[in-house]
Formats: sequence, structure tokens, C-alpha cells
Amino acid sequence: MRILFTGGSGKAGRHAVAHLIALGHRVLNVDLLPLDLPGLDNRITDLTDAGQVFDVMASYTGLDELDPGTGVPRFDAVVHFAAVPRILLKSDNECFRVNTLSTYNVIDAALKFGVRKIIFASSETTYGVCFADGERKPDYLPVDEDHPTIPEDSYAMSKVVNEATARSFQRRSGADIYGLRINNVIEPQEYARDFPAYLADPALRRRNIFAYIDARDLAQMVELCLHTGGLGYEVFNVANDTHSVGLDTDALIARFYQGVPLQRQIGPQESFYTNAKAKTLLGFAPAHNDWRALLP
Ligand SMILES: NC(=O)c1ccc[n+]([C@@H]2O[C@H](COP(=O)([O-])OP(=O)(O)OC[C@H]3O[C@@H](n4cnc5c(N)ncnc54)[C@H](O)[C@@H]3O)[C@@H](O)[C@H]2O)c1
Repeated sequence: MRILFTGGSGKAGRHAVAHLIALGHRVLNVDLLPLDLPGLDNRITDLTDAGQVFDVMASYTGLDELDPGTGVPRFDAVVHFAAVPRILLKSDNECFRVNTLSTYNVIDAALKFGVRKIIFASSETTYGVCFADGERKPDYLPVDEDHPTIPEDSYAMSKVVNEATARSFQRRSGADIYGLRINNVIEPQEYARDFPAYLADPALRRRNIFAYIDARDLAQMVELCLHTGGLGYEVFNVANDTHSVGLDTDALIARFYQGVPLQRQIGPQESFYTNAKAKTLLGFAPAHNDWRALLP
């Protein structure tokens, strides 16, 4: 496939982009910064500028695409990861502006240029737990895609707005638009560096509902979304199968979630942030659940 990927220079994007290139796809990374990766084309673009977005959506990816002399090929899919990725990096209103405007521009331009598959990064923060003032518990466990999304911070608000934007564009176009409610992204080198502290103090992971997503498993999720069609508009929790802490489910509930209703029995190591929908509809099979084996 010929894929326009936004935010491919970032923490999550660079793993997905490398995976897609390894699979043989042609990828144009559209970002404020280039990523130096063999086989990857880059285009410096500010996605809040609709003119730049429309230009790149109808662009050659590299000089070799001039050779056939048959004009600009179309993109088969768009993956939109670019964003201000949390609160407290920029002003709240700038985070909201960049994230909502860039998502509108990317989906609008993609559909107007005939792209029929769009995947966009949403977030666990939409559920309102992560960046709450003080402690806010989930309404129930495990947290699935039906859980209310009423956050109180600008970043998560921008992601809720982006989901509404995507759902409305999907209704008009009938295209496939899938949103990924990504949990906290963990790169391979972060297990040995960060997880011993999580073992020592599980409360460090409370705001992530004790879950995580390995960057390589997130890349697999993108691949599965590219190859699955006909779902219309869907959102998916994206997390690994296991907790990111040493306590098992009963101990975590006793310490952090007393009184929170349980929808079903939850396995001793099973994540409270369920990926069951992704497994059922996409065949998601995360491969990096056993982080304990990677610790010193
Ligand atoms: N990292 C996580 O734990 C996590 C969790 C949930 C959701 N997400 C979402 O996943 C996506 C990727 O997150 P990440 O951690 O890789 O973030 P990141 O900051 O590492 O990467 C984001 C990329 O977007 C680019 N970008 C920002 N504004 C842009 C603009 N106006 N035009 C073009 N490019 C722009 C940046 O240059 C950067 O390369 C984001 O949408 C983020 O909200 C991340």
C-alpha cells in the first residue's frame, strides 16, 4: 500500500513506520521533523495548515514517482499519529488547537482525495482517569470502549473531539475510519529502565489504569487496521494483555478499586484496559506481554 503517515518521527510513530516499511509498504512520513530511516520518505508539513495538508495529500512521495510519467499516485490509506501528545507540553489551548485542527484537516483532505481507509490515534485519556485533578476511578472494570468519555483536560478533550470529527466524516463518506484509544506506549528499552520502579510502587501506574502498550504491538495494531475493511467507524482500546505492575488483579482491586463494579471476572494478570474488541474484530494478538522476562 501507499500510505501517508503523520507523526512518524515520534515515539509511537517511528515503530509503526519501520514495521510498515519492513512489510513492503511505501510510506510518506508527514511531520514537523524528519525521521532518518532507510526506505522512508519525509515531508515537513504543519498539519494545522490546511493548504499544506491538501498539498501533501496530492503529492509524490519521492523523486522516483516522477519516472512513470503517469502523474501523482493516490494514497491507499492515511495513518494520523501527529499530535501534541499530552498536557503540560504546550499551553492547554494550543494543545487543543493543534490536535483538533490537524485531525480535521487530515481527515477532510484524505476523503476529498478519495482515501477510503483512515486510522487515527486517540487515547486512553478520553476515559477521564489519566489527567484528572486528583483521583478519578473508572466507572467499572475492565474499561471497554463503551465506558463514558468525559475527561476534564485539554489534551483528552481534543481526542474526544477528534473522535466526534472522525465519526461525522465517516457518516458522510462511508469510508473506514478507525480510532485507536492507545494506552501508555512503551518502547523496548523502557522495560529495564522504568519497570523496576513500577514493581516497587504500583501507584505510579494508577493514571494508566495499570495498563501499557508495547510500541511494536501498537505497530501490529496499525497493520491489522490497514488490512481489515468494512467496519465503518470504530474505536479500539489498544493495550497489552497484562498489567504493568507486580500486583495481581485481586491485590490491585483491594488497594485501588474498592467499590468499582466488575463487569466480569478478570484474570490474575489480565489488564483492566481490555483489548477484547481489537482481538475479536481485528485479530489483535499482542506479542510483548511478558515484560517480567526482560527485567534484570
Ligand atoms: N505516547 C503515548 O503513551 C500515547 C498514548 C496514547 C495516545 N498517544 C497518541 O499517539 C500519537 C503519537 O504519540 P507519540 O507519543 O509518538 O508523540 P510524539 O510527540 O513522540 O510524536 C508526535 C509527532 O507529531 C508531530 N507533530 C506535532 N504537531 C505537528 C503538526 N502541527 N504538524 C505535523 N506534525 C506534528 C511531532 O513533530 C512528533 O514527531 C499521538 O496522537 C498521541 O496523542 C500516545
